Amino acid sequence: MLRRVALTAALSLVALGCSDGGSIDRAGSPKATRPTTSSSTTTAPVTDATPGTAGLGDVIVPDAGNGGYDVQTYGLDIVVADDRASIVGTTTIAANATQSLSAFNLDLAGLTVDGVTVDGVDATWARATDELTITPAHPVGKGRSFTTVVRYSGRPAPVKDPSAPGTIGWLSAPTGTFVASEATGAKGWFPCNDHPSDKAMFTIAVTAKDADTVVANGTLSSKKAASPGHTTWTYGQTDPMATYLAQVAVGDYDVVQSTGPHGLPLRNVVVRGIDEAQRKVLDRTGDQIEYFETLFGPFPLDTYGVLVADSAPEFALETQTLTLLPAAWLQGYSPEETSGVMAHELAHQWFGDTVTPKRWSDIWLNEGFATYAEWLWNDHDGTRTLDAQVAEAMGQAQSWRNGFGPVAEPTAPFLFAPNEYGGAGIVLEALRKTIGDDKFFSTLREWLKRYGGASATTEQFEAVASEVSGQDLGAFFDSWLRSKTLPPMPA
Ligand code: ARG
Ligand code: ZN
Repeated sequence: MLRRVALTAALSLVALGCSDGGSIDRAGSPKATRPTTSSSTTTAPVTDATPGTAGLGDVIVPDAGNGGYDVQTYGLDIVVADDRASIVGTTTIAANATQSLSAFNLDLAGLTVDGVTVDGVDATWARATDELTITPAHPVGKGRSFTTVVRYSGRPAPVKDPSAPGTIGWLSAPTGTFVASEATGAKGWFPCNDHPSDKAMFTIAVTAKDADTVVANGTLSSKKAASPGHTTWTYGQTDPMATYLAQVAVGDYDVVQSTGPHGLPLRNVVVRGIDEAQRKVLDRTGDQIEYFETLFGPFPLDTYGVLVADSAPEFALETQTLTLLPAAWLQGYSPEETSGVMAHELAHQWFGDTVTPKRWSDIWLNEGFATYAEWLWNDHDGTRTLDAQVAEAMGQAQSWRNGFGPVAEPTAPFLFAPNEYGGAGIVLEALRKTIGDDKFFSTLREWLKRYGGASATTEQFEAVASEVSGQDLGAFFDSWLRSKTLPPMPA
C-alpha cells in the first residue's frame, strides 16, 4: 500500500468490510463491498489496459511482487486439515490499480487454484513458475479499487529462494505448523504481491480442529465454532504489514498472556514441552520494550510476544507482533544469548516491520539496525559492552566486505550474511560517533516518524540523517555503505 493517504483509503475499506474474514463467504464470492468512491464498471470502457508486469525487478529477486496495483487489504481464510498437512484457502485482496490492467499477476508457489473472481465476476487464470496470471472479465481502469478472490488448496511446500539458505514458507513439525517466509516464502501459502514495497492490512481467519491452538499476527477478534469439532480463529493486523512478516501457527501451543509497559498486551505462544525454567527468559520482553522505548519512541504496534515453535533450524524471524523463535534455541542457548536474540527481533518491530525496506538490497536497514539495538541491549543489561561488540565486528568487517561486497550492495546468496548484521551494525556506531548521540537518536526517531507504516530506501535514510544532523553525510555513507574498503571507526 502507499503511505498515509492510502492508509485512509484502506481504513474506509475496512469500514466497508473488505478486510473482514467474516465477509468472505465459503463459496469464495465476495459480498458487495466495492467502494462507492471509485469509478465503477458502468463508466466509459477502459481502452488503455495492458498486463501488469510479472515482477518488480528487485535486484535480489526480480520476479518477486507484481506491477500495476497496490494492495490495501488481505483477507486470508484458511482451513487446516485435521492432520495439519493440507489447507483449503480463500484469499480476498482489495487493491488499487496503478495502471489500467487487462491482466495482472499474483505470486503463488505450489498449491492448486480452484477459482478466481475479480469484483465478483469469474476470471480466467494461468500458472507458470510461482506466478498466477489473472485475466478479469473486464479490464480494471487505472485508479480503480478492485477486489480479487482466489480459492486454492493443497499441501504448502517450502519455497525456493536464492536469498534463503534454509527452508522457508509454511513449515511443519510434529507439534504444529508455523511460518517463516523471509524473503519470498509467503507465496508458498497464500497468493499475494510478495514484495516488501507493498504493505497492507491483514485479516487472518484460520479454521482448525478444536484441539489445536491457532495464532496469527495482531489481535484475536473472534473465536467461533465452525463445522462440528472445528473452531475458526480470526485475527486482525491493523498496522500495515509486509507479506514476509505474516505469521500463522496451528498446533500444540500454549498461549500465555500478560501486560507490558503502559498496558501493552503481551502474548507468548510456546510449543508444549518447554519447561518453566526454559520459558523464564521470555519474561525479559517487558524490560526490553521499556528500554527500547527510551531510544526509539513508543512501541509501534498493538501487541507483542514470542512464538516458540518446534523448528529444528534455522533462524528467528520478526513476524509482525509475534516473533518466531526456534525452540531449540530456547533450550540450547544461555538466557543471555536468548535475550540478545529476543532484543534483536523486538527491535525489528520498529526497524523492518514498522519501517520496511523498499527493496531487498536495503536489508541492512533491517539487520544492521536490529543488530545495533541488540548490542545496545546487551550493554544496557550488563552482558557485553557496546565497545566490545563493535570491536569484534570491526575485526571481521574487512573480510566480510571482501567476501560479500559493500554493505548496501548485497547479492542474493549473501542477503543474510554477517556483512548485513554486524557489518551493518558498525555503520550505525560510526554514524553515532560522527553526529553525536542526540542527533543519532533523533535521526532514528525521525526515520520512524516519516516512514512508519511504509517502506523506504537506503537513500531515504541517508537523507533523514543528513537533514537531522545538518551535515553533508554523502562521503560518510559512500565509504560505509558503498565501498569494499572498511573505513576506520571514528573516535
Ligand atoms: N530476519 C531474520 C533475523 O532476524 C533472519 C532471517 C533469515 N532468513 C533466512 N531465510 N535465512 O535475523
Ligand atoms: Zn534480524
